[in-house]
Amino acid sequence: MSLSNKQLISEHFSKAAASYDGAAQLQLAVIERASKYLTLSTKSKVLDVGCGTANLVKFSQGNLYQGCDISQGMLKTAQHKVATCADYKNNFRQFNFEQADAHDLPFADNSFDVVFSSLAWQWCDLTKVIQQAYRVCKPGGQVVFTTLLANTLVELKQAFVALDTNNHVNNFLTIEEVKQQIAQAEVTCDVLEVIDHQTHYDSVKALLKELKAIGANTVVNRDKSTGLTRAKLQKLENAYPRHSNKVTASWQTLYSCINKPLK
Ligand SMILES: C[S@@+](CC[C@H](N)C(=O)[O-])C[C@H]1O[C@@H](n2cnc3c(N)ncnc32)[C@H](O)[C@@H]1O
Repeated sequence: MSLSNKQLISEHFSKAAASYDGAAQLQLAVIERASKYLTLSTKSKVLDVGCGTANLVKFSQGNLYQGCDISQGMLKTAQHKVATCADYKNNFRQFNFEQADAHDLPFADNSFDVVFSSLAWQWCDLTKVIQQAYRVCKPGGQVVFTTLLANTLVELKQAFVALDTNNHVNNFLTIEEVKQQIAQAEVTCDVLEVIDHQTHYDSVKALLKELKAIGANTVVNRDKSTGLTRAKLQKLENAYPRHSNKVTASWQTLYSCINKPLK
């Protein structure tokens, strides 16, 4: 992942920090589902990598919640939320936040009982970020993560073909590619569950607006500037498949759990 792509991701998420929670219903549902894999106690030290606005806190409890994210804007929103929201502030004894890149975590080896990450690693080199998460996880602890797979936003990708041959939507890994990257990280996943989620909109414009509101509008290695004129947007609306006059977006989501053995 190049520095310019990382900067772009960080900028888009920082711009989206204020609108994120209002638009991130799917992301919240994915965290709630993933949190069922967590084994937590009042003593647990939890690291949330790519924590965004710290939504994991709503579905977990423990001693320390350490959030880290590449986006300063997301961290600021998260800090404000855990200090002020009733659903959040009593779930952990202590909260810390730090700006950090998932590829190079600034934490000591074997320091967290749980390392969690939801819908952040589809922009990362998966082998590297898994190795980092595993390194900072204590023996006997767990790494739980979710990421997006190749069938995500396939309808949008297909509709863009009507416009040009440029890359307008990220390329997500297939489950086979994910398995290869996990093998390269030299860890064993105890859970690899693929769930297809769908979200519905009145128009493609509404879908694109939501992607921007959650900061997920970065296209890694975008070929050219691909601004949408009114005419292009209309072409996209016409090309997008509709059911009952609604636009549907698919989100193929992987839920995974790695239990780190006690030596
Ligand atoms: C879709 S949001 C998910 C946030 C949160 N985990 C949730 O599910 O609500 C993705 C988050 O990952 C962060 N992110 C992306 N690349 C990252 C990286 N290399 N290191 C750390 N955070 C990263 C973004 O800044 C953003 O806050």
